[in-house]
Amino acid sequence: MVQVSVRSQASKGTINKNIYGHFSEHLGRCIYEGIWVGHDSPIPNTEGMRNDVLEALRELKVPVLRWPGGCFADEYHWRDGIGPAEQRPRMINTHWGGVVENNHFGTHEFFRLCELIGAEPYINGNLGSGTVHEMQQWVEYMTFDGESPMANERRANGKEEPWKLKYFGVGNENWGCGGNMRPEYYADEYRRYATYVRNYGDNKLTKIACGPNSHDYEWTEVLMRNAGKYMDALTLHYYTLPTGDWKSKGSATDFDVAAWFTTLRRTLEMETLIEKHSAIMDKYDPEKRVGLYVDEWGTWYDVEPGTNPGFLYQQNTMRDALVAGINLNLFNNHCDRVTMSNIAQIVNVLQAMILTEGDQLVLTPTYHVFHMYQVHQDARHVALEFTSPDYTFGAERIPQLSLSASIDSTDALNISICNLHHEDAATITIDLEDNNRTTVSGSVLSHNALQGHNSFEQPEAVKPQAFTDAKLENGKLSLTVPAASVLVLKLQ
Ligand code: AHR
Repeated sequence: MVQVSVRSQASKGTINKNIYGHFSEHLGRCIYEGIWVGHDSPIPNTEGMRNDVLEALRELKVPVLRWPGGCFADEYHWRDGIGPAEQRPRMINTHWGGVVENNHFGTHEFFRLCELIGAEPYINGNLGSGTVHEMQQWVEYMTFDGESPMANERRANGKEEPWKLKYFGVGNENWGCGGNMRPEYYADEYRRYATYVRNYGDNKLTKIACGPNSHDYEWTEVLMRNAGKYMDALTLHYYTLPTGDWKSKGSATDFDVAAWFTTLRRTLEMETLIEKHSAIMDKYDPEKRVGLYVDEWGTWYDVEPGTNPGFLYQQNTMRDALVAGINLNLFNNHCDRVTMSNIAQIVNVLQAMILTEGDQLVLTPTYHVFHMYQVHQDARHVALEFTSPDYTFGAERIPQLSLSASIDSTDALNISICNLHHEDAATITIDLEDNNRTTVSGSVLSHNALQGHNSFEQPEAVKPQAFTDAKLENGKLSLTVPAASVLVLKLQ
């Protein structure tokens, strides 16, 4: 029996809803087919964007959406994506499959997408192969409301008023696909580019610097030391590969218990990364003014057999549900520094929310976890005290349980629980501190196979079920958490 105590006075503050953010890149079938089908498509659409995907994303309450990349961002020249669609240049998407990019989805379409799903736009600028002038002009085009060449061009393209833009990234993975830079060089470049990323009128940008690749603590040190005071946020990218080997990552659906275990073990490394990068940030920014944005995370497997290797299309099982639940619990529990995260990616790429095929759509187990965890968006974090039993496999052990909790604006206490063990249930008692809460409800995501997933033939094989097995008595909650499951409880 595991004893958990709610410590409502020990809080890390508000869980920024942007922790539940998403990422959409011009990669494979994410933008094209996944979101954009064009005005003339037989697939029902709103201004070129497919209605079924829009509806599913609205339902998900996407707080913020990052675009246009990724590696694509540092090769993207925004002027190619404005003006009459038929006149937009075609280019090669060199990073992702070498396919033709017709630029039919550009700045105006992205902002419209955000409006349609109710998300804040997060635009990632091109530092790797673009110029300072180009970046400065893009910001002017989007946000200037006066008389200027860029603002006038925007008006000529049909948008009279400027858009509101809060989040702007100054480069992506500049230690890799964004220019192979050294941290000292990027820190200087960041300072130069960020100078011209201006706030026009009352539009106030959060300037986001490219942060480290997973364990690269030197990058964080140099960036914070040399450019910390010029940024509002620093990014962190970390992907979960079952094998840890980029050449042979492992299958999304054809895996054994050993791969289940190592995938979850590698996911838990996110906690070390957050703690160590945060400790460096604390040295230079003790007030925690600069947010740590985990703006790329999730599972990365070998692509589905027979699909374009450059398209990063993969299935999504109960294992992905656990990876999502664990990471979101970690972000909730570190919400004093982690103020945004963007899982990669929203449709048809990597650990996607949605998979599409022609006019068909499937919601993945990861989608369901994000849906269940919505309750934490902008809620007040609450600490939980407990010692997790070990989950042992071979010579290795990891905690069996991952938990986080928050109190929402209606004063409901929401607790999310992941049981990582592939076959053992966990019996737990939660001491709620007081007797004020009298009802408990919940939903659980589980399946009889670890490899359980939704396909176009069986789109509802994995979906949340009501959880009715929790007993609440005298301020104590008792329940058994099924093996390999994600559970969210509401106490009122
Ligand atoms: O999400 C896929 C790719 O992963 C992104 O384009 C890049 O930033 C990262 O390496």
